[in-house]
Amino acid sequence: MKLAHLPRTAVVARTALFTALSLACLSPALADQSATSPDLRASNMLKRMSLQDMHHMVQSYNDMMTLQQQPGGIGAAGYVPALPKLGIPAQQQNDAGIGVHNYPIDQGPGKQPAHVRGEAGNTTPLPSTLAIAATWNPQIAYEGGRMIAGEAHRQGINVLLAGGINLTREPRDGRTFEYLGEDPLLAARIDGGEIRGIQSQHVISTIKHYALNDQETNRTTVNANIGEQAMRESDLLAFELAIEDGHPGSVMCGYNKVNGVWDCSNRHLLTDILKGDWKYPGWVMTDWGGDHGVMDAMAGTDQVSGIDPVTGFSLGQTFSSFGAPLLQAIDKGEIPRSRLEDMVHRILRSMYAVGLFEHPPVNKPLDVEADALVAQHAAEQAIVLLKNEQDQLPLKSDIKTVAIIGGHADAGVLSGGGSAQVWPIGGPAIPAVKGPEWQWKVYDPSSPMKALQKLLPNAKIVYDDGSDPAKAAALAKSSDVALVFATQWTCEGIDQPNLSLDGKQDDLIDAVAAANTHTVVVLENGGPVKMPWLSKVNAVVEAWYPGARGGEAIAGVLAGKINPSGRLPVTFPQDEQQLPRPQVTKALDVDYNIEGAAVGYKWFDKKNLEPLFPFGFGLSYSHFDYSDLHVSTQGKRVTVSFQVSNAGKRAGMDTPQVYVSLPGDSGEAPRRLAGFEKVSLQPGQSRTVSVTIDPRLLATFDVPGHQWKIAAGSYPIQVGHSSRDLALKGEATVAAATVAP
Ligand code: BGC
Repeated sequence: MKLAHLPRTAVVARTALFTALSLACLSPALADQSATSPDLRASNMLKRMSLQDMHHMVQSYNDMMTLQQQPGGIGAAGYVPALPKLGIPAQQQNDAGIGVHNYPIDQGPGKQPAHVRGEAGNTTPLPSTLAIAATWNPQIAYEGGRMIAGEAHRQGINVLLAGGINLTREPRDGRTFEYLGEDPLLAARIDGGEIRGIQSQHVISTIKHYALNDQETNRTTVNANIGEQAMRESDLLAFELAIEDGHPGSVMCGYNKVNGVWDCSNRHLLTDILKGDWKYPGWVMTDWGGDHGVMDAMAGTDQVSGIDPVTGFSLGQTFSSFGAPLLQAIDKGEIPRSRLEDMVHRILRSMYAVGLFEHPPVNKPLDVEADALVAQHAAEQAIVLLKNEQDQLPLKSDIKTVAIIGGHADAGVLSGGGSAQVWPIGGPAIPAVKGPEWQWKVYDPSSPMKALQKLLPNAKIVYDDGSDPAKAAALAKSSDVALVFATQWTCEGIDQPNLSLDGKQDDLIDAVAAANTHTVVVLENGGPVKMPWLSKVNAVVEAWYPGARGGEAIAGVLAGKINPSGRLPVTFPQDEQQLPRPQVTKALDVDYNIEGAAVGYKWFDKKNLEPLFPFGFGLSYSHFDYSDLHVSTQGKRVTVSFQVSNAGKRAGMDTPQVYVSLPGDSGEAPRRLAGFEKVSLQPGQSRTVSVTIDPRLLATFDVPGHQWKIAAGSYPIQVGHSSRDLALKGEATVAAATVAP
């Protein structure tokens, strides 16, 4: 999206107007409270709507660029004006992958950008969505969603474009940080938590980008080729499970094509699968400019987003899909009126189900401290300790000298760019730098160095910016320990050219490690990176983009106040040659049949490739043992229970992972993640964990039979510390069965 140049005063005035309108709209809707089911209420409302009223609901205007022409709009990404005579509130639709997207306005060369909605940045960035997946804790995702939606609601926003779940097929995808990794079950459980948290605040969540929008290169034109069985068992399974868990009010169809058909024109994806097989009752909105004509309505799209309110054209297009053409098509009988009724029913139904009528946004001050703590707790559980030779970490409390090198670690922590960008409270830690298009490179104002100094008050901590490796090495040499902060900025719209850290960061780490054997690397990155220096450093801390209190979380892990408990939600390859596509596909056709459903670790297992770090991996300052495996089967349900014990000397959290293999070689890969649980244990404490496997994870998708099919046989079950460190082995005997698609 291109951004607006808007006066801030206009925004404040329009927010007040919007709040007044929402309240004024309330009474007729409340009169309908005798009908309690959202479907019944939507049907009752439909009876009172004219063709024009219904037509009004299926078009969402781009409010970012054209705020001044939008009375009632608040400068969010999308805006559907209220229908006051019917008591239908406006939809204010805003991005919120990491926090409430709060975009900057470029004030011209040499000046710092300002931003809309608020005076000094008014929303709290969580760690990146990938980092939330690294917590392996749906409750953390729930709390994050609740926090974001609470902030959104106070600003007049009632629809969040949050809930991205595209699988990491392409780790160089610039939006990897906005998604939830490579496994459908992990991604869905975390997304489900986030969606439930958002909707608990009477704000609709939008799961996106449906489907297979897995790279940014040619993002609006690329055609993802993949077989039906493979997509059902991978990307679509992630959506299916997350929708069941979270019940998002809306689904956003993506920009790309799948098997030759645009996502938002794709009847098979939208009508046959989403609304047919999965019985999804909510509405499908397009990505901004993702529509391709009026017949998208017949494919299953319910609302076109990002319409230019002046021309009525779809974003970036010179045509309108659901404007006049929709009324004409209904008039000519090409689209039945009942389809428009269905579109509006779905929209209203979600608005009722999530409580948009009874709970209009309220302009209340933020509890900045409470919200920052939500972000901090998430970061503390997201950080993954990848290496810790000689117990380098935690730093000893009597350490005398610490060198902190690079990554602006004296000032803040990095965040990702694009529509998920959050302009933090207090503004960026250092002047923001504009990316190639609308994106900004923003450091959240949470300094790891200052936070570490608080935890190690007697240590002398010195910062070097890392621009001169020789100077940094000299500082490292004279210090007890050297902490190098390495960063990788990623953003929407741009894929990474490769998996290397950019600039001369690898050389910097080499130089520092050569000068001091007690070198620790802290990574702030969007997705997997290569580590040519791995054998030369003692410790590696994966901090992702750690959000509003990332500095505190990193310092907590380094100093041992926090026992790290994150686990990788993505495989870290040794190099690009190990990937299904050694280079990002630049052609208009991307071939996902290469790996099919064997995404991420499944590909590595199938091809017997040794990754740099496997999926599910992460160390702790404690260690955990597994024992007493029991596997029981009742019909299609397999339950796996076992003991987890904290065999170390510190309290900590562990995430035992249950993997299942299909009989023979019927599965897409040797094993699938079938369950997990994050547990917190005191030293010496044990707990029994019990995981019931979703029958679809025992099945393959039977395309001709149009069902999930469980083969009779013996299913190897393993419980592990990661996908490659499998401690317990058992078996489930399962009878043949089927599951509805
Ligand atoms: C992105 C969506 C986003 C929308 C509105 C699009 O470019 O792909 O994820 O929700 O813009 O900002």
